[in-house]
Amino acid sequence: MRSTIVFLALPVSGVIAQIQYTSTASAAVEKARATALTLSPTSHVQGKTFDRFVTIWLENTDFDMAAGDPNLKYLATQGITLTNYNAITHPSQGNYVAAVGGALHGVTGDSFVRIPNSEKTIVDLLDAKGVSWGEYQQDLPYSGFQGNYVNQKNGKNDYVRKHNPLISYDSVTEDVNRLAKIKNFTMFERDLANNTLPQWMFITPNMTNDGHDTSVTTAGKFTRDFVTPLLNNPNFMQKTLVLITFDEREIYISPNKVFSILLGDAVPESMKGTKDGTAYNHYSQMATVEKNWNLGGLGKGDNGAKPFF
Ligand SMILES: *[C@@H]1O[C@H](CO)[C@@H](O)[C@H](O)[C@H]1NC(C)=O
Ligand SMILES: *[C@@H]1O[C@H](CO)[C@@H](O)[C@H](O)[C@H]1NC(C)=O
Ligand SMILES: *[C@@H]1O[C@H](CO)[C@@H](O)[C@H](O)[C@H]1NC(C)=O
Repeated sequence: MRSTIVFLALPVSGVIAQIQYTSTASAAVEKARATALTLSPTSHVQGKTFDRFVTIWLENTDFDMAAGDPNLKYLATQGITLTNYNAITHPSQGNYVAAVGGALHGVTGDSFVRIPNSEKTIVDLLDAKGVSWGEYQQDLPYSGFQGNYVNQKNGKNDYVRKHNPLISYDSVTEDVNRLAKIKNFTMFERDLANNTLPQWMFITPNMTNDGHDTSVTTAGKFTRDFVTPLLNNPNFMQKTLVLITFDEREIYISPNKVFSILLGDAVPESMKGTKDGTAYNHYSQMATVEKNWNLGGLGKGDNGAKPFF
């Protein structure tokens, strides 16, 4: 496998951040794609409040900016706006890592990390109770791919490892059956059509659609276009709770408050268009899922966090 490594030094809010981009050459990708294992197991474990949890992560936007976006504003009318939901850290990667593992595990930047096999994630808890799970990462070139991938036509950043929460955990990547459930949007469409979506999903749009390389206007439009048909699709909406959130606010000042909405048919009709000012954070995602399916906990950030229901 051939790769190019580029070190870029760029100023972020007055500090110099070092970002490592490892983009795998397309010939190697073509070859690996042909044999990559892809799995779409399903399950029907009943939860207390919902039977499916889906989170969609957008990028780097202050609460007020997102709350003012017309498309996100529209989506908010369809669900509950969480007005006191905070990210864990800056920059991006630690937030993703923390949301599935309950801790930062020493992640302080966006460069390539591997978290030792001894560290468990939400996936261990879901597997133990037979709750199916999967990730859908837009433009991931094949299931289980572990590098970064640029758009092959224009060279733009497209799929990035730092926005893929489970890929940094050896406890996931050293298990081929787990790796096979880290999929792309082609697979999302297929799983949706085949009614083989799992009960727990983490969805990351590409660097254009999540707003990272664009703006909240692009992210808001993408999200509304993506989510609206799903809200009426019976293969998706099966007592489903959807959390739309942002990894972190753009400006590095406290609090790290981000815009988040709960949607889906698990949200009671009477709560649509309401606001919830409870203090939540990214660990609340784990706490919510653990409580819903009685999964226990990892004994980390998840244990102190407040669940949404
Ligand atoms: C998505 O992943 C599948 C399974 O590995 C692969 O066959 C397909 O080519 C990928 N789609 C894109 C657009 O890269
Ligand atoms: C991101 O996905 C959109 C489709 O939703 C596609 O048109 C666009 O080219 C992708 N962006 C990049 C940088 O590849
Ligand atoms: C359903 O899944 C099968 C593999 O199990 C695949 O061959 C088929 O293309 C999928 N159907 C759709 C509509 O994507």
